[in-house]
Amino acid sequence: MSNASLVIANWKMNGNRALTRNMSEVLRDNQADFKGVNVVICPPYTLLSEMAGHIYYDDVALGAQNVSEYESGAHTGEVSVAMLQELGVEYVLLGLSERRAEQHESDQLVAAKAATVTQAGLTAVICVGEDKAQREADNTWSVIQAQLEKSLAGLSATQMARVVVAYEPIWAIGTGETASPAQAQEVHAKIRGWLVENYQQVGAKTPLLYGGSVKANNAESLFSEADINGGLIGGASLNGEDFCAICRAAKG
Ligand code: PGA
Repeated sequence: MSNASLVIANWKMNGNRALTRNMSEVLRDNQADFKGVNVVICPPYTLLSEMAGHIYYDDVALGAQNVSEYESGAHTGEVSVAMLQELGVEYVLLGLSERRAEQHESDQLVAAKAATVTQAGLTAVICVGEDKAQREADNTWSVIQAQLEKSLAGLSATQMARVVVAYEPIWAIGTGETASPAQAQEVHAKIRGWLVENYQQVGAKTPLLYGGSVKANNAESLFSEADINGGLIGGASLNGEDFCAICRAAKG
């Protein structure tokens, strides 16, 4: 049985106009198979408008891979929440390990962005995860807990109701090495406990996604775990058939 109801595609710096068209057609043609599962597509900024024009059926929403913490002004190269809203964007990915590593995004910056996103009524998808050395040193939970504490700092209960947490072990991202369902569930259960302790009923409902080499052939076993409410999909979201298979697995 699946406990998943949210599947997010993170195209990263991949894709083109042809993929937006192809993906929307494949999703449209297969949507009856995963009715009720919320599907979010996060293409690069330059394809958001194109993708928005193709989403014309239920349960599929548009997401962005990043946003500025500022509302407007002299911030060359940045994109604001209002700009995303104008395109119909409903979700924003924040704190992905690639951005933490390559753009040096700190937990404090993630928190500032999460505040801007949720204040505007959009959903912030906050990513956390340990690297291999941290796992091997048995520090997984202390790393995740610190990221949660700092990345969610200052959010009100109303804002927390617009947060999704994604557990993405860094050693599993783009490597083909997936966390086993039991490994993922162990961390998800701790995240759920922490959320309930800190945000009570709101925390009990926060969707918890697993990300890191989710594929058509391992999605079903991951999604059957009690505290895995869906997936954040990188590589496998670039192929319509593979992505639909993962959405089908979420439907169960
Ligand atoms: P992956 O990426 O599915 O290619 O491992 C996951 C992510 O970083 O969102």
